[in-house]
Amino acid sequence: MVSLVGAGPGDPELLTLRALRLIQSADVLIYDRLVSQEIRDLSRPDAKLIYAGKAKSEHAMTQDAINQTLVDLARQNLNVVRLKGGDPFIFGRGGEEVETLARQNLEFQIVPGITAATGCAAYSGIPLTHREHAQSCVFLTGHLKNGEINLNWEDLTDPTQTIVIYMSLSGLDQICRKLIAIGRSPDTPAALIEQGTTPSHKVHLGTIENLESIVKNQGVRAPTLLIIGSVVNLHGTLNWFSPESST
Ligand SMILES: C[S@@+](CC[C@H](N)C(=O)[O-])C[C@H]1O[C@@H](n2cnc3c(N)ncnc32)[C@H](O)[C@@H]1O
Repeated sequence: MVSLVGAGPGDPELLTLRALRLIQSADVLIYDRLVSQEIRDLSRPDAKLIYAGKAKSEHAMTQDAINQTLVDLARQNLNVVRLKGGDPFIFGRGGEEVETLARQNLEFQIVPGITAATGCAAYSGIPLTHREHAQSCVFLTGHLKNGEINLNWEDLTDPTQTIVIYMSLSGLDQICRKLIAIGRSPDTPAALIEQGTTPSHKVHLGTIENLESIVKNQGVRAPTLLIIGSVVNLHGTLNWFSPESST
């Protein structure tokens, strides 16, 4: 059995009970870059740990190699946990991995995790929807391909929709400029959440006009998540999380 498990955004206490039980009983754990040491330490001392992380320029394993490793391990009748940051079905290629298993008629289960959007938003006191601010919310990837971000910009004009952009640090300037170009007010509030829910959690606040220059010299370290919309203003009253006193 292969269990595709979401590890949440960082804080180990955001694991589900099911994820914890599976991690504790796994023979083999294949984990991604954003799965913290604290979470890996929950595995059995005799479990085999395989790193399959993907940073922007350095891929420990290709996606094909990861898929094949899952198939090989499942065929050895091992209890395999494929552990991914956040939720495996949100920008996590979880779908591709279980498709491979399904094609080979191998048994699998999927355990959802708290995705970065909901984890970072909650720990930053920024409700993604709110009756007075946003009636909808959209999750997008800001991943750059050949220096360009491929989004349906025309769909992003609605000021009552919160925009959440994963993988947006390198493209931050381009995203903000593009939103202004399609007619969004330059004063639209924006927050860049750095290493959300972890002891290094930081919220950088600004507008789509000035956020890039605010964070430029701050030594911001990935992972970061961008939230755009008037809900960001609620951080001022709802901010509750102090990383230094979190245990
Ligand atoms: C490849 S995507 C994986 C997303 C993951 N499957 C999820 O559901 O959160 C990686 C991106 O998620 C976001 N991310 C993940 N963990 C984060 C965290 N603790 N703080 C801020 N952003 C995070 C960042 O935008 C990062 O570039």
